[in-house]
Amino acid sequence: MAAARGVGRVRKAVVVRVRHRRRSGTVTPSERDATHVEAERLERYRRELEARERELTRASDLLAAERKRLVESEARFRTMADCAPVMLWMSGTDGLWHFFNQGWMDFSGRPLEEELGTGWAEGVHAEDIQRCMTTYLEAFAERRPFRMEYRLRRKDGEYRWILDQGKPRWNRPRGGGDAEGADGEFAGYIGSCIDITEQKTLQAELDTRVRERTAELLAANQELEAFSYSVSHDLRAPLRSVDGFCTALLEDYGPRLDAEGRHFLERARAGTQRMATLIDDLLDLSRVTRASIRRDAIELDVLADGIVTDLRGLNPDRAVTVEITPGLRAHGDRHLISLLLVNLLGNAWKFTSKRPDARISVGVESRDGDAAFFVRDNGAGFDMSRAERLFAPFTRLHEPSDFEGTGIGLATVQRIVRRHGGRVWVDAAVGQGATVFFTLGRTPEVPPA
Ligand SMILES: Nc1ncnc2c1ncn2[C@@H]1O[C@H](COP(=O)(O)OP(=O)(O)OP(=O)(O)O)[C@@H](O)[C@H]1O
Ligand SMILES: [Mg+2]
Repeated sequence: MAAARGVGRVRKAVVVRVRHRRRSGTVTPSERDATHVEAERLERYRRELEARERELTRASDLLAAERKRLVESEARFRTMADCAPVMLWMSGTDGLWHFFNQGWMDFSGRPLEEELGTGWAEGVHAEDIQRCMTTYLEAFAERRPFRMEYRLRRKDGEYRWILDQGKPRWNRPRGGGDAEGADGEFAGYIGSCIDITEQKTLQAELDTRVRERTAELLAANQELEAFSYSVSHDLRAPLRSVDGFCTALLEDYGPRLDAEGRHFLERARAGTQRMATLIDDLLDLSRVTRASIRRDAIELDVLADGIVTDLRGLNPDRAVTVEITPGLRAHGDRHLISLLLVNLLGNAWKFTSKRPDARISVGVESRDGDAAFFVRDNGAGFDMSRAERLFAPFTRLHEPSDFEGTGIGLATVQRIVRRHGGRVWVDAAVGQGATVFFTLGRTPEVPPA
């Protein structure tokens, strides 16, 4: 409007000048032309100014609308922030805090003015403040998100554990682009906090309970192991004496006994020998749990080959085809892995004894990214529906009259595998043989189970 008024003034001045010349009666045609041209120029100028004015009005209307939109969006943000069930804060490009939502103020019980800048940090526990600020400043310098836990004083004076998660804010660059990324202009940080005191307390209680329970279990286990070890150990001596006296009786008084008497004595001796084997196996089992394990590089193929040679020596009349993958390597405790293979190969040897075309193979397959070693045979096999308890001590799926044994072997194998952080499983079918798989884990040593 001011521009239009200006144009009006100029036009009036020109008209006055022309009128003034007319009154003097000396206006020439060229003067009249010049006046006309000037008036046209002024008219153009006026139209231009009016167009500009319209543009300005439009721009100022847009600005007003944008400002209104911003005010509304700011109000919306504040309402949302204040209604959010979390505590929110925002910092600026200078790293100082310039916004806290109502949730924050309700928690701290302090007015906003006291929290602004770095005021809020007064509420952080003295033991946490250093770590807290370092985390924030380091993340801030690199413009990366962060997550920290610290104790913050609540309005009732109690310190509560807070989980604070901050993220850099990026203003959308002019002309669009990635507002979250490097194209955006850094605008400070926004963070949200929740009270995690309950979770922390629960977690701590849980940890303590697990620790206590583990210690209790470990103690009970050790006690049991020590008990079974000493019982087995102590049983040996009286058993040896029973066996010795039975032998002496047979040798010295055998001729005076009738056939039935001698048969009873033989049965008593067989019983003591069986019990002696059982005790030896039990001692082996408890040793597995007690000994600390090492991680040796083991040539499994060489070890298996040696065991097979021993087995062939015990049954020279048996023709068994044995295939061992050459170059089979593993990491584990040499003594325990040897015991494991003795048991698995011993089983394969035993349960193929009724087959003229006995075949045993030792190798490795990949299972879920782990090396699964296996010992496979084409012997008696068993029904998989009964495989569940196979690894429990004294579990046997075959009659002693068919295949001898005490049922300790696979329990020992499982303990060895577990102590290496691995697992063991079987695959079998009646009359078609069995395969025992085992992994040895990657952990250096697993404490006694
Ligand atoms: N290769 C196999 N083929 C068929 N059955 C098997 C095989 N390995 C184990 N079993 C079954 O699992 C049972 C338990 O095996 P485990 O090695 O623990 O005991 P065992 O061989 O009978 O006795 P021990 O090993 O104590 O002398 C066996 O009695 C048998 O029934
Ligand atoms: Mg066995």
